[in-house]
Amino acid sequence: VEIGDVMRGMCTARVVESRNPGYAPGDLVTGLFGWQDFAVAEDDSFTTKVPAGTPPTWPVGVLGITTLTAYFGLKEVAAPRAGETVVVSGAAGATGSIACQLAHEWGCRVIGIAGGEAKCRWLTDELGLEGAIDYKAEDVRARMKELCPGGMDVFWDNIGGKILEAALANLAMHARVVLCGAIANYNEERPQGPRNYMNLLVKRARMEGFVVFDYLPRYGEALSELTALVREGRLRFREDVRPGLESAPEALVDLYTGANEGKLLVEIAAP
Ligand SMILES: NC(=O)c1ccc[n+]([C@@H]2O[C@H](COP(=O)([O-])OP(=O)(O)OC[C@H]3O[C@@H](n4cnc5c(N)ncnc54)[C@H](OP(=O)(O)O)[C@@H]3O)[C@@H](O)[C@H]2O)c1
Repeated sequence: VEIGDVMRGMCTARVVESRNPGYAPGDLVTGLFGWQDFAVAEDDSFTTKVPAGTPPTWPVGVLGITTLTAYFGLKEVAAPRAGETVVVSGAAGATGSIACQLAHEWGCRVIGIAGGEAKCRWLTDELGLEGAIDYKAEDVRARMKELCPGGMDVFWDNIGGKILEAALANLAMHARVVLCGAIANYNEERPQGPRNYMNLLVKRARMEGFVVFDYLPRYGEALSELTALVREGRLRFREDVRPGLESAPEALVDLYTGANEGKLLVEIAAP
């Protein structure tokens, strides 16, 4: 995004006027419309109608990009088998909390890493994870060892930095390290790589990144499975909705301090 450009962002919006016969005024649609009151959607490749009866927050929240990220990253990159131990960093966030629950659904033992006691309690008490590590108060590397005595089969990383380094010190043989994000590094001028990457060699492990947009042709397939899980209450989620377009800059900054509780959304106007 260049200075002065409209900030990119997925939105749920209501059609005001349409020259495309596929859309009528009043339709609710989801698309990459950006942080603005009105948008012109010239290319409809990212625009989809919101199915009737779906709450307007869901297509940008629990049935949006972050959930699809968790789904495809877990299914295609991590490919966990039932009984394996999966550890997720950024576990109380939008992407992480869904990755944790899907891994659980698929029969894995799941440990989440998050900042603060309240978020950790939500992971164990509400989501039913086997354990949680408070990276702000605990020695992450030591706790990983304690909670995963046989090492971790999958490490899902949203954070990078020291947490990734601690995870590489606790891998099981043939582990998969999924690079979903590295939010601790995004604002660092000189981010540090993990010093112990040689553990990948010793453990015959694989570290692989992915970008959710690569799976665009398969979003429909994923969403029918995910919608059923959400409607059955088997995928739980929290929405942190901030009022007004003017709250968007501060909301973005909150992602970097952990002040958000669940999927962070900005309500520009009631749709
Ligand atoms: N690969 C892809 O296609 C793809 C797609 C979407 C998102 N992502 C990535 O997924 C990750 C999560 O994104 P999200 O939108 O779901 O956000 P989120 O997890 O809902 O919110 C970000 C969370 O990151 C944690 N955090 C921020 N700075 C941190 C730091 N320095 N150290 C440790 N934890 C920190 C905070 O949680 P605590 O309170 O626990 O600290 C914060 O709540 C990001 O890395 C993002 O870039 C990747």
